[in-house]
Amino acid sequence: MLVYPFSEVNKVQEEIRKYDPMQCYLLYDSNTINHCDNIIRNQFPDLNDSERIIIPAGDQYKTLERCITIWNTLAKIGANRNSLLINVGGGMITDIGGFAASNYKRGIAFINIPTSLLGMVDACVGGKTGINFNNFKNQLGVFANAQCIYINTQFLESLPLNELYSGLGEMIKHLLLFKEDALEFILKNTDIKNWTSESCILKNIQLKKAIVEIDYLDNNERQCLNFGHTIGHAIESLSHEKKTPLLHGEAVLLGMIEELKLSEKLYNTPEEIRAVLEAVKQKFFPFLDFRYKFEKLIPFLQQDKKNENGIRFSLLENVAKPKLKVVISLEELKNELS
Ligand code: GLY
Repeated sequence: MLVYPFSEVNKVQEEIRKYDPMQCYLLYDSNTINHCDNIIRNQFPDLNDSERIIIPAGDQYKTLERCITIWNTLAKIGANRNSLLINVGGGMITDIGGFAASNYKRGIAFINIPTSLLGMVDACVGGKTGINFNNFKNQLGVFANAQCIYINTQFLESLPLNELYSGLGEMIKHLLLFKEDALEFILKNTDIKNWTSESCILKNIQLKKAIVEIDYLDNNERQCLNFGHTIGHAIESLSHEKKTPLLHGEAVLLGMIEELKLSEKLYNTPEEIRAVLEAVKQKFFPFLDFRYKFEKLIPFLQQDKKNENGIRFSLLENVAKPKLKVVISLEELKNELS
């Protein structure tokens, strides 16, 4: 998995030059076409006449219908096995773009250019592509690696603050899972600028990349990355019933806080970890509060892809000590979380 920072843009250009510019297609959403295409035109002038495919922004559009739109457009404009799809956007675009590319004519090449903090540190790294299905998240998907990933923090300048902060959820998760000094780092870095520097982003990507290289297909070690996600995904899906749904990173932060309560009960996990996350929530997400009825979460919890004989969790025994494949019955969960 090749990750190139801004200083190595020439390597991304070389990758793109392997393809006929008229067989390069750029996938944007309705936000990134406005905020990011100028940077792309500046850095990759070879692509100025390449076709732009635009889909609506928002995770609710990460659907089969929009994927069909992408396939129809590719077919209409003559994309073939030698085409390249360049995904320019947040996690929604790199997920659906990767999925569309890896299924079109049994798979064409794609490059990920993530434009959100969350997209840079998580979604575009590790070969997971996919779409939501029947209102459940990421139910259809394949593992497929991008030819390369290009990280340019200039894209973050146009990002709304809540989107920027949302990326923190996954960055903090990576630190808690893999860095002994995670709590000190989190408490020390109270300015968002510390988190959005290129070096901080690249180091965070390396944390995820290392575990993906051990267990690409997510059968064992990689599952630690699901910490905060069993409850986080359920809360996120449920929030789609609201006027302003939660962003993924926000839901993951709430999910980690709830799953730490479970960890404390089961493994005596130090309460200090949860206190640090509560402090992060207070500092960066003062209005984040999603109250839910446990019963409403149940269908989403049961839909989780990892379940076998109960609800499956990845918890945290301590900083840098994940606990994998923890199965908790609905009854126990109800007692702990209600
Ligand atoms: N986002 C979790 C994973 O890539 O495995």
